[in-house]
Amino acid sequence: MQAANLSQATLNRAAGVLRHASKLRPQLAIVLGSGFGPVLERVEAAKEIPYAKLPGFPQPTVQGHAGKLVLGTLGGAPVAVLSGRAHYYEGHSMAEVTFAVRVLAEFGIRDLLLTNAAGGVNHRFRPGDFMRLTDHINFMGANPLRGPCPPGLTRFLDLSQVYDPALGGLLDKAAKAARVRWHRGVYLALSGPTYETPAEIRAFAHWGADAVGMSTVPEAIVARHLGLRVAAVSCISNQAAGLSPHALSHDDVLATAKDASRHTGALLEEFARLYGRP
Ligand code: HPA
Repeated sequence: MQAANLSQATLNRAAGVLRHASKLRPQLAIVLGSGFGPVLERVEAAKEIPYAKLPGFPQPTVQGHAGKLVLGTLGGAPVAVLSGRAHYYEGHSMAEVTFAVRVLAEFGIRDLLLTNAAGGVNHRFRPGDFMRLTDHINFMGANPLRGPCPPGLTRFLDLSQVYDPALGGLLDKAAKAARVRWHRGVYLALSGPTYETPAEIRAFAHWGADAVGMSTVPEAIVARHLGLRVAAVSCISNQAAGLSPHALSHDDVLATAKDASRHTGALLEEFARLYGRP
């Protein structure tokens, strides 16, 4: 894979494309993971910008992840919605995986809602449930802040509170209104692309993980470094390895995420509505 040019100049050009595409200047951005796609149907007056038109944006390669950025309003609130994300397991560098977040910050986004599909480690979680992240365990083996530290940013970032309690409170309210099965818990991120072994899942449960997945944490770390508030939601697409008699497959994960996606539109629209008028 060819290394992308992710210089500050590229970043400024991408933010410039967004400024030219629409007059909207949203403060909220939402990254859609597997199963959260139907949210796009609820975005009004949408202006779609394919990632191919955004300098530095990697093209997602995974089924279930289109690649476009949508500017519009959701529940009355201006939003930037990213449909499709670059994953570390695809071979992208951490800088590529988190580039979109840096562009969003440059564009003026203040608050970031990250969504994903995840395996349930907590034995009370069932496919189709949702979990708001209260914290995470970074077990990806890499940190997106490794390397030179941009001037003006802290070298050793405090992560005692990655996920913002006020935004989390709005998510709790939205979940109630959307009548979804709702949990709060700890997300453990791995690089993938393999699913875990049952022994790993037993170990992660001891560590305090409630769900496992292959995304979100790099974006959350970079967003916090840039001073954005962050919230995150997992759609529990399956019970993690060893907790059910079934082998795991990406098709099953997508199928459950698609089934649960009936609720994701209502959940995120309600969140955006509350965000606009808390
Ligand atoms: N493990 C890791 N990532 C996942 C899973 C899982 O079980 N389900 C969806 N993403």
